[in-house]
Amino acid sequence: MQENLRDKRLPWPILAICLLVSSISGLSGVQNAHGEDPQALVEQRTPHREEIQRDLQDQFAALFAGMSPAAKSGYRNLTQNVYLPADFDETVFRKLDTLEFSWPFLDEKLPKANRKGTWLAHGLASRPDDASLPLQYVQSKGQYVMNCFACHGGTLYGTTYPGSPNTTYALESFTEVVRKTKLQLGKPLTHMDMGLLVMPLGTTNGTSNAVMFGVALMNFRDADLNFLADKLPAAMTHHDMDAPPWWNFHRKSHLYIDGFAEKGHKGLMQFMLVRQNGPEKFRAWESEFRDVYQFLEELRPPKYPLAIDKPKAKRGQEVFEHHCAECHGTYGDNQAEYPERMIPIDEINTDRVRFDALTPEHRQAYGDSWFADYGKQDTIAHATGYVAPPLDGIWASAPYLHNGSVPTLWHLLHPDKRPAVWRRIAMACDEEQVGLVVEALDQVPKKLSKGEKRWYFDTQDTGKSAAGHDYPNALTESQKDDLLEYLKSL
Ligand code: HEC
Ligand code: HEC
Repeated sequence: MQENLRDKRLPWPILAICLLVSSISGLSGVQNAHGEDPQALVEQRTPHREEIQRDLQDQFAALFAGMSPAAKSGYRNLTQNVYLPADFDETVFRKLDTLEFSWPFLDEKLPKANRKGTWLAHGLASRPDDASLPLQYVQSKGQYVMNCFACHGGTLYGTTYPGSPNTTYALESFTEVVRKTKLQLGKPLTHMDMGLLVMPLGTTNGTSNAVMFGVALMNFRDADLNFLADKLPAAMTHHDMDAPPWWNFHRKSHLYIDGFAEKGHKGLMQFMLVRQNGPEKFRAWESEFRDVYQFLEELRPPKYPLAIDKPKAKRGQEVFEHHCAECHGTYGDNQAEYPERMIPIDEINTDRVRFDALTPEHRQAYGDSWFADYGKQDTIAHATGYVAPPLDGIWASAPYLHNGSVPTLWHLLHPDKRPAVWRRIAMACDEEQVGLVVEALDQVPKKLSKGEKRWYFDTQDTGKSAAGHDYPNALTESQKDDLLEYLKSL
């Protein structure tokens, strides 16, 4: 593994000065509506930032080194093979590199008008095996082609960790600026550019309308995946989701928040249903996706890099076993057990837009198709709610809930204190509340550009509610405190 971004960072004192005078200093040293000074908050919450980054880098390198040849080949397929039409070329990238972008993070200065700045501002991160290339796009013959890591591999608190949800991916903002640049350069538009014209891609950075992309694409296919030109566009309820971490793949028999689809290598190929890919291509790619499946299967979450208070975590484990394990299972080398329980939607009571948007007909069409071996694989067309996910590495997969509406584990454990609107303000991990360092607001500020608006998560928007999952209300404050310590150890 080669060195990545972390080695190019500025030393702390210089960084602090840069931050104070940075162009986003509308925030620095100034109190916000909740009486907080965001800059001070970031410094107070992220004291071990560099230690965490180094540790994560070592953990991924060790994990990858121990993988089977098939899993390693799966990783190579995802990072080097072209399965979709190109999104843009090197000329477009060079033009982007002359532009100045901004971002909301106060702990890392965004390089102006160069490649690193273009990457960071849009949620691209260097590949662990080749820092000169972005993990999220395959580079081939001067062209850049989006891959699964666009949503499923980003920088985890500043270090690239393939398989961790890409919490900074700015899909819609990136597509907008790429499209504008192509028009200026007289280049043709491609499938993503056109997609943006017919549907929203993602209203908050780090989340995307991916499930509805799937519905839109599947609508034009028969069970054999032949393209049906004369179909009308599907009715859709657009909404954004937070991609789940891939390191829980090995724990599951069925995938997605409603657990409707038995896992298999064919199902992993849904994302490639663009018009250019006919049924024969999916069949030709099968063996490559067997290896991709193996890569997902062998991924594991990173361990929490900082010290854990053992007696406190032990008390937290007891709380967990009484109040959480019936749904989320048990953890530890000898006793790990995951019940994969589906909880009725009215009981879990988290945002139900995703539940209603994917209808029994959609699920059935998937189940009858090549993706599910024409019904040989188990498909639950009539899902009743959401499946409680495994919590391995939960410290590393903020924000929480399927729509990414809850910024930290502390907020998950305090349902009444979840912010109505929040904006992430640091790349680093919040070591106190465990998750994203955020600024809490009552509403999204007025007069923002479209790109800046996507820095905010507004729980009042469709599909974005942070309500529900009220189980922690049965606990005392000190039980919650112990439980938080235990959750770090999973
Ligand atoms: C545009 C963003 C995006 C891209 C690109 C993407 N995914 Fe996903 N993926 C998601 C989202 C969002 C979900 C959650 C969907 C749900 O639960 O309904 C998801 C869910 C999954 C899951 C289920 C995980 C679980 O634990 O239930 C797997 C596996 C997966 N994706 C694999 C892939 C593969 C393989 C690719 C590339 C071929 C890919 N994804 C490309 C956004 C994306
Ligand atoms: C009755 C079943 C049930 C119980 C009890 C329960 N949970 Fe959950 N939990 C769920 C379900 C279902 C979800 C998924 C909800 C969603 O994403 O909308 C979830 C989601 C979560 C998440 C977010 C996971 C992620 O990847 O975003 C965390 C963290 C969590 N639960 C922790 C706990 C803790 C801690 C307790 C005990 C205090 C607990 N849960 C009790 C069913 C349960």
